[in-house]
Amino acid sequence: MTKLWGGRFQKSAEAWVDEFGASIGFDQQLVIEDIAGSIAHVTMLGETGILPQADVTQILQGLAQLKEKALKHELKFQVAQEDIHLNLEKMLIDLIGPVGGKLHTGRSRNDQVATDMHLYLKARVSEIITLLTTFQQTILQQAEENIDTIAPGYTHLQRAQPISFAHHIMTYFWMLARDKARFMESMKRIDISPLGAGAMAGTTFPIDRQRSADLLGFSEVYANSMDAVSDRDFIVEFLNNSALLMTHLSRFAEEIIMWSTDEFAFIELDDAFSTGSSIMPQKKNPDMAELIRGKTGRIYGNLIGLLTVLKGTPLTYNKDMQEDKEGMFDTVHTVVGALKIFEGMVRTMTVNKSRLQEAVHSDFSNATELADYLATKGMPFREAHEVTGKLVFTCIQKGCYLLDLTLDDMQKESALIEADVFDLLAPTAAVSRRNSYGGTGFEQVKEQIQLAKQQI
Ligand code: ARG
Repeated sequence: MTKLWGGRFQKSAEAWVDEFGASIGFDQQLVIEDIAGSIAHVTMLGETGILPQADVTQILQGLAQLKEKALKHELKFQVAQEDIHLNLEKMLIDLIGPVGGKLHTGRSRNDQVATDMHLYLKARVSEIITLLTTFQQTILQQAEENIDTIAPGYTHLQRAQPISFAHHIMTYFWMLARDKARFMESMKRIDISPLGAGAMAGTTFPIDRQRSADLLGFSEVYANSMDAVSDRDFIVEFLNNSALLMTHLSRFAEEIIMWSTDEFAFIELDDAFSTGSSIMPQKKNPDMAELIRGKTGRIYGNLIGLLTVLKGTPLTYNKDMQEDKEGMFDTVHTVVGALKIFEGMVRTMTVNKSRLQEAVHSDFSNATELADYLATKGMPFREAHEVTGKLVFTCIQKGCYLLDLTLDDMQKESALIEADVFDLLAPTAAVSRRNSYGGTGFEQVKEQIQLAKQQI
């Protein structure tokens, strides 16, 4: 098979060697971006007079045909042509004749591949930002429906204090808000054109880099041609932002999995987002949440993989950089899939309000109320903590909860306790009275939801 760069070679590599070096198996995902880059480049070559307009017209027609075929998945890629860039160039030449060979004037695969990656990530990151917003809206909706749903709040996975269930899930809203801000911020470094950097030193042709960047919709051009072809920071940043997003999704997934157990039974996932067992007929498994938790590992791997690829590469382009792609594609597909699945899972889940209600009535998560009550009556908080702890112990011995004690029982530990204590010990009171800014008090949660709606 003839190579487009075959001139200085006396013999060709064997097929299995080509196979090892080829990236076409995965970089064909850049087909549309690669054609777009070529269209911009050749248009600029025509406008600057580097190529005659007649040639440009022919090349543009050829590229348009290739694009049409690409969209219909009709292009037949060859391993012998190594990568997407050489495959397309070969197809163009086969289609329109030797004039197709003029496309590569003043360009190298090094600036070409970098351009493709910038274009690809720009589109996919904005898709991810949109998916994040949709997911945030779904969380907001579940939160609005569950402001009054009281649930146990945990620290150390031990019952801590009663909270509004809305307050709990809004935590994930804010995590996603930070993720979104990070992806948006990273756009500044994705939205830059390397095109025209050539192999690494620029070109002798009087090209107009700003023009090709404008045609591709880039906001800026790289100021240094060597930086343009060797920079992969924008991909590392994407992987990093994705890794942190997946951390958040994985934590949420873990809670979904726990809450779906018979032991918790706080929520029930919709059948459409659950799976059964091949042997145990009663099973309804939260596979999707588990997979998202599991896939998080892969995304961390992709980040560490690319950092490691880059750490020893001298300037400028090295073939090592071809290894930037699979991890990036995998991360894009995984993050997009995980966000869509998670959104559906949260939108369709049923919150078991009565079970949550029952849970907060059968625990000691109102113990802080009693300590605070005594402190309000003038007892030093440390002492109030001790007294309450003793009353909790009394309950444990009796096999009951604080609200089951009589006033008499309570007064044995402190004479400051009066009948009004029982109202305060009710879980609803415990939640509604936590009205400090950002607290779980119903009024605060409503304000928080308002704030979230303004930000979204
Ligand atoms: N397939 C290559 C990659 O993904 C394209 C750039 C190749 N450039 C080169 N000089 N070999 O990195």
